[in-house]
Amino acid sequence: MSQIESLSQIEEKLNNLSLTAKNNIDNSNTHEELDQLRVSLLGKKGDLSIILKTMGQLSATDRPIIGQKANLQELITERKNKLNSEALDKKIKKEKIDVTIPSIGTPPGNKHPLISTQDEIIDIFCGLGYSVESGPEIETDFYNFESLNIPKNHPARDMQDTFYLDENRLLRTHTSPVQIRYLEKNPPPVRIIAPGRVYRRDAVDATHSPVFNQVEVLCIDQDINFGHLRGTVLTFLRAFFGDIPVRFRASYFPFTEPSAEVDVQWKGKWLEVMGCGMVDPKVLEKLGIDSEKWTGFAAGLGVERFCMVRHQIDDIRKFYTNDIRFLEQF
Ligand code: DAH
Repeated sequence: MSQIESLSQIEEKLNNLSLTAKNNIDNSNTHEELDQLRVSLLGKKGDLSIILKTMGQLSATDRPIIGQKANLQELITERKNKLNSEALDKKIKKEKIDVTIPSIGTPPGNKHPLISTQDEIIDIFCGLGYSVESGPEIETDFYNFESLNIPKNHPARDMQDTFYLDENRLLRTHTSPVQIRYLEKNPPPVRIIAPGRVYRRDAVDATHSPVFNQVEVLCIDQDINFGHLRGTVLTFLRAFFGDIPVRFRASYFPFTEPSAEVDVQWKGKWLEVMGCGMVDPKVLEKLGIDSEKWTGFAAGLGVERFCMVRHQIDDIRKFYTNDIRFLEQF
């Protein structure tokens, strides 16, 4: 037989090959089968290559071969896609959701420990006749500092490194401005607490967070003296911590005079838990309140601190990272 076959012979071979190939491709049911077919048809030693070899130098006949190659490749790809979509259909059918099966249940959420602590503090003061007030977190220099007897360049400003929004507006560094906002609108007698978020430019570490929560306490009435402050603070601390040792240390705040810090003895250690004092008459006078007639006390405490002491939490960051393993313990 001659090495060189005629074009019509080659075409016939190609047609035959194409017919069987099509048939085989259509009948292949797995990717492996299809892949084997691809190799046996289009591979280096595949049927098409063999035909190509018998063509010798007949360059004009290259075309039907190349066309055939592309054609078969296309058929294989089509079949592959079909196999894929059939597999997907099967999978989807199998995964059909049975809406009648009872659910396995969603674990109930619970209160964040900071919220529970804050609620507990609120409850105690409500029991003592206090009502709950709030103020804005974006404050002005006036309410956060000036009105509380902290003028510009006062060293107390350094203790509360501040996030300024512009020259006049800032994120409040404490809840004390609520005292002023409330007294502006409500003449004494006054018994309020103001829980809320406060902000300081502190670097984050185990005991510092740039955002934390305070509760402000304010009581203004006639004949209020330090004994009332002491009695209220003791009653509150014992309601919260139980019957533990408490001590008052003289301290300084620009808006109270005299001022004190309060420590509790917890697990053998003295821990500072709040600041307090008799409201400075200057603060009242600036509000137009007669400080001869009205006196009062104020206090401020950090909710995180109370929660950490109560639950022996050693790192303030645990409150804000929302790790479910931490949160589900409360
Ligand atoms: N505002 C103070 C602070 O954030 C805490 C404080 C101290 C509040 C004494 C008071 C107070 O009302 O009387 O550091």
